[in-house]
Amino acid sequence: MRTALAYHNTTIVEKQLLVFEKDVLEGLREVPKRLHSKYFYDATGDALFQQIMHCQEYYLTRCEMDILRGQTEQIVRAIRRQAPVFDLVELGAGDASKSFYLLKELLRTGAIDTYFPIDISRNIIAQLQQSLPVKLPGLQVTGLNGEYMDMLQAAGQITGRQKVVMFMGSSIGNFTPAEAVQFCAKLRQQLQPGDMLMIGFDLRKNPKTILDAYNDKAGITRAFNLNLLERINRELDGNFDVSQFEHYPTYDPLTGACKSFLISQKEQAVEIAGQTVRFGANEPIFMEISQKYTVEEINELASRSGFRPVEFFYDSKRWFTDVLWQCR
Ligand SMILES: C[S@@+](CC[C@H](N)C(=O)[O-])C[C@H]1O[C@@H](n2cnc3c(N)ncnc32)[C@H](O)[C@@H]1O
Repeated sequence: MRTALAYHNTTIVEKQLLVFEKDVLEGLREVPKRLHSKYFYDATGDALFQQIMHCQEYYLTRCEMDILRGQTEQIVRAIRRQAPVFDLVELGAGDASKSFYLLKELLRTGAIDTYFPIDISRNIIAQLQQSLPVKLPGLQVTGLNGEYMDMLQAAGQITGRQKVVMFMGSSIGNFTPAEAVQFCAKLRQQLQPGDMLMIGFDLRKNPKTILDAYNDKAGITRAFNLNLLERINRELDGNFDVSQFEHYPTYDPLTGACKSFLISQKEQAVEIAGQTVRFGANEPIFMEISQKYTVEEINELASRSGFRPVEFFYDSKRWFTDVLWQCR
């Protein structure tokens, strides 16, 4: 007999699977076809992303690590000037390997005792829930598995304390600039005046450096993109032949948009959850945007979404910035 908790968990998993199926089929019926990059992250996708973070071409992680490890104390001081004691919420926490340095210092200085990592990957939340209390004794970890906004609302129901929200890894770049304004404005609505946001932006730089980061020679980013087709095969009873799709990243230095596509190598039909989806030869599936910003665009985003810029932290090359904002 199933326990009430097991039953509750099963229904959440089943619900997530139904939403995944609906989003995949709707996206592949659109013109142009698209898949949402939030679905990259199952257990295989999480492991591939951790490999990407170590790729020589993927400068983003090294730059952000440079900031969070090299300027931990300055960041903590800047946060605590506005928020001496608070709850820390991280949107899309991933393996928390970069935020670990901040968490450690915030815990040491008594600024936090509870950390709410939010992630759409069930696997990553289970890992964090297990590993972090061992690595950082005394830290309460309340993992929240689900969508950013739903889980931020859930965190707000658990605690009424002042909040600092972290959104690292240039995940804001996975929205178009217009979507980013909407996203930050929604985020602002869920927070109180005085709450803070620490947000990581990848800055515009040599276009080739950017494009190479999404086209590593070892083919890990390619495998990361193709894994979403494999995930559809595994979870939605699909029959994609992944050898018939090619990874195609692009970067437009005029708009700062880096986009990844999978290109169908021939005319083909694919079965997904009992439905047939047809692809033309050379037809693209739009997989992901990774938007690159200028400092002016970042300040504009803050002001259009109800935040006041407090401080910019840069890596030594000035390729990346983690920015501290406060709710107006
Ligand atoms: C690019 S990774 C960044 C991970 C980490 N923040 C870092 O900087 O290394 C994005 C993370 O956000 C999660 N994610 C993506 N879309 C999400 C969504 N809509 N809601 C919640 N989590 C999401 C993914 O599962 C993944 O762990």
